[in-house]
Amino acid sequence: MTGDATSKRCSPIDPAGAPLAPARTDDASQAKIAVRIEGLWKTYPGNSSPSIKDLSLNVYDGEIMTLLGPSGCGKTTTLRLVAGLEIPDAGNIYFGDRPVVMTSQRLALAPNKRNVGMVFQSYAIWPHMTVAENVAFPLKARKFPRKEIKDRVGRALDLVGMGGFEDRHGPLLSGGQQQRVAFARALVTEPRVLLLDEPFSNLDAKLREQMRLQVKLLQKRLNIAMLFVTHDQIEALSLSNRVALMNFGVVQQQGSPRLLYEEPVNEFVRDFVGRTLLFKGKVLTSNPSGQLAIALEGAPDCVVFGRTYSPGGNKSGDLVYIGVRPEDVEILPALGSSMPSGMIGGTAEAALFIGERIEYQVEVDGQGVVVIYGERHHPVDEGSKVWLKLRADGHSAWASDLSHKDA
Ligand SMILES: Nc1ncnc2c1ncn2[C@@H]1O[C@H](COP(=O)(O)OP(=O)(O)OP(=O)(O)O)[C@@H](O)[C@H]1O
Ligand SMILES: [Mg+2]
Repeated sequence: MTGDATSKRCSPIDPAGAPLAPARTDDASQAKIAVRIEGLWKTYPGNSSPSIKDLSLNVYDGEIMTLLGPSGCGKTTTLRLVAGLEIPDAGNIYFGDRPVVMTSQRLALAPNKRNVGMVFQSYAIWPHMTVAENVAFPLKARKFPRKEIKDRVGRALDLVGMGGFEDRHGPLLSGGQQQRVAFARALVTEPRVLLLDEPFSNLDAKLREQMRLQVKLLQKRLNIAMLFVTHDQIEALSLSNRVALMNFGVVQQQGSPRLLYEEPVNEFVRDFVGRTLLFKGKVLTSNPSGQLAIALEGAPDCVVFGRTYSPGGNKSGDLVYIGVRPEDVEILPALGSSMPSGMIGGTAEAALFIGERIEYQVEVDGQGVVVIYGERHHPVDEGSKVWLKLRADGHSAWASDLSHKDA
């Protein structure tokens, strides 16, 4: 194992690498656009700053696009603008080719003219109505014939696995069942787009996982576009075809979950999507495509490869932070008198058993304290010396604000 890693570490980076390519977006451009949002701005009355700033994104037919971000970043506002529950100050929204909002033309279709289904965090199932009456409600409001209402309600309930519960009243259902009824009610009008605002956050962890899976299967079967809102990154990564990560009303990056995890465009994305360990290092070589070879501080023969995210790039001699995902570090007991080359040493100061893994607080030579994930079948003793083996490549390098003298 060590031999493989070492030979890889020694492979020089291509000095003439292609110039830095623009950030990938993973746009599913061959699919048909279900919703196109262009340059939306929204400031609520009485607020001094906009809740949404120049927001543009597409949702394609047959995909789950997720708006992810911290509380107050503008996710619900975006969904409400798409639904027609709020009017933007500027910008356009199209459903397919059809404009539903064009602020310059003073066009804004009413919510019931947009053919969207919505599911919210609170299921909003009316307690005085049966399941069938709840699901039939949007059709009755649109004056569908009685026979068609019955057929559609039956189909929608079957779709969410609630056939047979037609006559039950809302309060006699579990949280998960109520949420499935809310899904059936949102789907019964056969909308072009389904808008989901934190639909699972009232459910317990187990049920949330089950519902995630059900929504994924439902989406595959129906092949409709879903715009999904969550602040839970696990939910976003597992459920979405693409994610738009927002902060302070601005989309920071959009693309596949893998793209955001592996190629975050800035520190906010890096730290919001998954965990990142920061090691200090010095750039040995760099090429025009932004690839770097970096030696770890405290272990000069531990050289890793990655890509720079410092604005303006990096040159040899620069001090940087190396962003390493926790699963890319292996923690080993320090056996023997000399550490194999390509590793960095440390001391496991504390070990926290958290079930699926053990989290070690490691004082790393020349670095400071880093939390490392370990495998529960091969634990390392608290207080013992350890060796850390970093994956050779695929890391990110970030501008260092310090001269690393504080270590
Ligand atoms: N009706 C309103 N009037 C005034 N300000 C509002 C209104 N609704 C939202 N805001 C403000 O707009 C910003 C974005 O709110 P929004 O509800 O869209 O955030 P969010 O991302 O959905 O947050 P959360 O994860 O907490 O639901 C916040 O600063 C919020 O205080
Ligand atoms: Mg919200």
